[in-house]
Amino acid sequence: MLLNRIEKALMNNPARATLQRRFEARRLLAMGGRVSGASVLEVGCGRGVGTEIILDIFGARQVDAFDLDPKMVEMARRRLAVRREQVRLWTGDVTEIPAEDNSYDAVFDFAIIHHVPDWRDALREIHRVLKPKGRFYAEEVFEKFINQRIIRRLLEHPREDRFDHDRFVEALEESGFAVISTDQLLRRFGWFIADKRKKL
Ligand SMILES: C[S@@+](CC[C@H](N)C(=O)[O-])C[C@H]1O[C@@H](n2cnc3c(N)ncnc32)[C@H](O)[C@@H]1O
Repeated sequence: MLLNRIEKALMNNPARATLQRRFEARRLLAMGGRVSGASVLEVGCGRGVGTEIILDIFGARQVDAFDLDPKMVEMARRRLAVRREQVRLWTGDVTEIPAEDNSYDAVFDFAIIHHVPDWRDALREIHRVLKPKGRFYAEEVFEKFINQRIIRRLLEHPREDRFDHDRFVEALEESGFAVISTDQLLRRFGWFIADKRKKL
């Protein structure tokens, strides 16, 4: 599901970029470590700040990244133009990733899966494209945040079948991941590190 105008404004500004670099990414880094020299996929890349973080802070060699919203991809393309040797971008859906099985060392999700109606399909796709023992880094937003009256009024999210920390962990395990580490804040936001463990 695409972001509405208000959420785009909340996402696409320097304050959010700083928060993503200094807090959100640091938490994932502390939990899951660097991916030095790795080939990485970022799902729902938005305007490309996450891709910069994966290259600069996590040490990836190459990042493929996509977003459902062509306007976001266009912004990412402009932002990442100077890194075109290391980055490939396209418009696409996380529930149908155009990549072979076992393609990536790591996959990053900076807060997109709560926007996907069939979010379990997204987890299965991410598991499919990861190499065996590949690592999934996820930061997510839980139903307790989405269902707040003010958030319902201002932002647009799928409403049915959302998740909390435990349901997300359960779905990761059902998709074939071994959950390595998790953390949460106010039961509204969560961080997850999970490794591809087995073939379904
Ligand atoms: C909350 S924003 C986060 C964007 C970016 N990851 C960031 O942290 O700034 C969620 C993003 O997910 C994208 N998105 C929503 N559904 C998607 C889907 N099915 N496949 C890929 N991207 C999707 C939206 O277009 C939006 O850019």
